[in-house]
Amino acid sequence: MTLTAEAAPRPKRAAKPSRTARTTDQRAADQHAVVTAVERAADGVVAITLAHPEGRRLPDWTPGAHIDLVLADGTMRQYSLCGDRWDAHAYRIGVLRDPASRGGSATIHDTLRVGDTVRLGGPRNTFRLVPSPRYVFVAGGIGVTPLLPMIRQAELLGADWHLFYLGRSRSTMAFLDELVPHGQRVTVLAKDEVGPSDLGALIGPARADTKVYACGPQRLLDGVLAAAEADRWPEGWVRVERFAAAEQGEPARAQPFDVVLARSGATVTVAPGTTVLDAVQAAGAAVLSSCREGTCGTCEVAVLDGAPDHRDSILSPAERRANTCMFPCVSRSCSDRLVLDV
Ligand code: FES
Repeated sequence: MTLTAEAAPRPKRAAKPSRTARTTDQRAADQHAVVTAVERAADGVVAITLAHPEGRRLPDWTPGAHIDLVLADGTMRQYSLCGDRWDAHAYRIGVLRDPASRGGSATIHDTLRVGDTVRLGGPRNTFRLVPSPRYVFVAGGIGVTPLLPMIRQAELLGADWHLFYLGRSRSTMAFLDELVPHGQRVTVLAKDEVGPSDLGALIGPARADTKVYACGPQRLLDGVLAAAEADRWPEGWVRVERFAAAEQGEPARAQPFDVVLARSGATVTVAPGTTVLDAVQAAGAAVLSSCREGTCGTCEVAVLDGAPDHRDSILSPAERRANTCMFPCVSRSCSDRLVLDV
């Protein structure tokens, strides 16, 4: 993508469907759930099971989806759903105690108990499993969580698959026991047993029948993407989900730009240092938000005109080029004016 091309005026277009399903993705964190189980899943990892307070069905979800979990102190964090998507009465998440966290995982580990009530947002899915005869899954530590439902789905559909599960040591790798029945389909690569892994060798050369899904720490994902590029995997065939925002360069423009709120007709000017999200919310637009760092997908809005400066960690290169949606918590504008469907 060249910014010059992106900044060129384009014809007005009609609103297109969002890249994700708004019917489930735009749920605010206004549902309640009760904790029904808190279990140790590995060193520093707990598995939390949640249910509707009155035993009703929970919203449906698909493999790769995550929820917002809002704790009693108002802290909101996103966690991948790692249970059985066909069990409509239970959500399961895995939570790693992160020493560098802003308190969310430590609060969950130290205070969340069976019987507690939490608020939920979502589910939403920015890491969808696309149909394929064969999958290679690469998990780094707690990054195994979104891949567990994907594996179940692959099994259900009769797809060929293999999981490479990397971690520091087996004692820190959650849900290993659930993977044992899959035998040779799972390769456990504990660093204290086998040393560092060659990611290029794991995913191998591009294959027409294979999609790669990876989730884990940034270094692992950067390594997977670099290996995919070196091995000429086609764009979009290797999908990653990040825990933290990817590094972004400087914004495309340093000047203010205008954002037109198509539903009200209002125009707001977004100054450098102000996010589009803050500007449109201040103008009265009802745009949900959660992570505010371009990783969760909550704030997604449709772009009707203009050229966004995509600065999220969610969209694929093709989705960026399509310019049909953006994440205003981090993304800005290449053009003088953006028209958003808000
Ligand atoms: S609030 Fe999470 S991507 Fe914008």
